[in-house]
Amino acid sequence: MEPIELTPEIRERLRAAARMVVFSGAGVSRESGLNTFRGAGGLWERMRPEELATPEAFRADPAKVWQWYAWRYGTVAAASPNPAHVAIARLESLFPSYIVVTQNVDGLHQRAGSRNLLELHGTITRAVCERCGRGREMGEAIAESPERPPLCVCGGRFRPAVVWFGEALPEEVFAQAHEAAATCDVFLSVGTSGTVWPAAGLIELAHGAGALFIEVNPEPTPFSRLADLRLAGPAGEAVPALADEIERSR
Ligand code: OAD
Repeated sequence: MEPIELTPEIRERLRAAARMVVFSGAGVSRESGLNTFRGAGGLWERMRPEELATPEAFRADPAKVWQWYAWRYGTVAAASPNPAHVAIARLESLFPSYIVVTQNVDGLHQRAGSRNLLELHGTITRAVCERCGRGREMGEAIAESPERPPLCVCGGRFRPAVVWFGEALPEEVFAQAHEAAATCDVFLSVGTSGTVWPAAGLIELAHGAGALFIEVNPEPTPFSRLADLRLAGPAGEAVPALADEIERSR
């Protein structure tokens, strides 16, 4: 990757910023060995989302959906945060207001030390009863029943605590993300294709409200043309380099 060159204007905006939002997608976890959804080697290249990540799919074949999530949980449990997650966590102490809004369900931002975090699409680290809402650790649920969803004491089935296609985002979580995007000074988008709504709308919202918009992605996205600064490299290199520059500017 090319060294980062900040214009004096961008450096000044980073120095003066009070509120920063980091918006992350599957690409931030690519260098932890986890697959993205789209693009080369993406999870959706091999299967159709509606066959696995929908309430209808779970109703039609709970065992198949449960086994897919058990496999994904295994890959997540075996993965570790990479330098991008660590750099994102490191920046938290530099801003009076700093929030990570992630579309990822892998829990790697928490494991890297991020504290102020919104998980827009839920988490694969928990299971939830589809009838009564009781929650439990996903790892325990899989250990108890690797082949099919275990049953809750109420008789309902446990499912992963993620948001499926066709389901609404958790209202309060999305409201907080919306508010953060609408009022931030810096909006850093990392490793997202920007194709899944309403999450992707946060980028336009922040840009429209006047935030400095920085994009880290080796590939162009529908939002690249809006970026004040575009770092076309892997997150594990670009984000730590950017974090160094931000630290220097403050
Ligand atoms: P995608 O798989 O759509 O996009 C991943 C992005 O990461 C692509 O734009 C890649 O170019 C980029 N990328 C790949 N390697 C990278 C690297 N090393 N560093 C930085 N970027 C890299 O993933 P998302 O945008 O997260 O939703 O997808 C959004 C949602 O679609 C997911 O949360 C999931 C999925 O369906 C649900 O499950 C509800």
